[in-house]
Amino acid sequence: MRVLSGIKPTGNLHLGNYLGAVKQWVAMQDAIQAQGGETLYFIADLHGLTEWIAPAELSANTIEMTATIVAAGIDPDRSILFNQTRVPQHSELAWLLNNVARVGWLNRMTQFKDKAGKNREGASVGLYDYPVLMAADVLLYNTTHVPVGEDQKQHLELARDIAAKFNLDYDIDLFTPPEPMVSAEAPRIMSLRDASTKMSKSNPSEQARVNLVDDDDTIAAKFRKAKTDAEPLPDTVAALTDRPEAKNLVTIYAALADLTPDAVITQYAGQGFGTFKPALADLAVAKLGPIRDRMLRLLDDRAEVGKLLDQGAEKARALAAPTLLKAQRAMGLHV
Ligand code: ADP
Ligand code: TRP
Repeated sequence: MRVLSGIKPTGNLHLGNYLGAVKQWVAMQDAIQAQGGETLYFIADLHGLTEWIAPAELSANTIEMTATIVAAGIDPDRSILFNQTRVPQHSELAWLLNNVARVGWLNRMTQFKDKAGKNREGASVGLYDYPVLMAADVLLYNTTHVPVGEDQKQHLELARDIAAKFNLDYDIDLFTPPEPMVSAEAPRIMSLRDASTKMSKSNPSEQARVNLVDDDDTIAAKFRKAKTDAEPLPDTVAALTDRPEAKNLVTIYAALADLTPDAVITQYAGQGFGTFKPALADLAVAKLGPIRDRMLRLLDDRAEVGKLLDQGAEKARALAAPTLLKAQRAMGLHV
């Protein structure tokens, strides 16, 4: 098994990114490697360019997100951790695959439609072509499994189609069709102010999200002030269905404590939020505080974090180069 996943360096990570993505990466690092597999994780800085971002912000985000990922438990000696730019084979393969992917396929991508909205003509070509670069990211390493959120499944289907068409068009068995891994354990964390929208860096209120850089008091205050209802917690998870705010807090508690929501409900059935929220605040501080502290310590020496990326990129290039060469040769490029 070869597992690969990427994240865009779009800004400070929040609890949703941690529980929904990074924590799953850490779990996979352990589980996959125990089975003799490999894990590769990268900062998708090239994908970060598809919507305008200030250059200084993009480069700072790349370093800060790397520090957060390492602080959260990705070990650069055990997983290959790098940024896309440092492995030029991603861009090179993306160009080759541009000639395999069909316009009709890209026209069906819902993320482009959502992000471009009514301004289709004004969207960057990069935003439109985003899924082909993502296919290159995955196919370059003969990745077998890709942990992603639900919204990225369509892009992986496209990567499978591109792999199959390349293999057919050039009569070669080069690319492995990747399997998306939408983990049943990866929770979807909702806003602490409005549980009908997901926790996101674009939530208008700071109170809606817990950032991984928040200090202990801020974390605790955000949970204490989280929107809830007046009822005590029920004795079944099913009874939370129509109580999205309560359900969200139980989901967060369970994910942070590595428990099932059922186990949390069993423990807190009949208790009010006057008890549950402080317990959740304490748990969150206990779990997130050490990650934040490690991250800040790593960021004391940003150049050192950059070096980790360089070392990871060197290992990634060694895996990527032979695949790119095979693709170039298969297509008749003189290399
Ligand atoms: P944001 O919504 O803050 O812009 P991104 O879309 O950049 O976050 O997502 C980065 C990663 O974090 C993706 O793997 C995504 O599935 C995960 N993620 C983002 N928000 C949440 C959330 N609220 N709950 C669970 N996972 C999330
Ligand atoms: N598109 C992914 C996202 O928005 C990030 C990403 C880029 C990615 N390349 C990837 C994820 C390759 C998995 C594999 O979350």
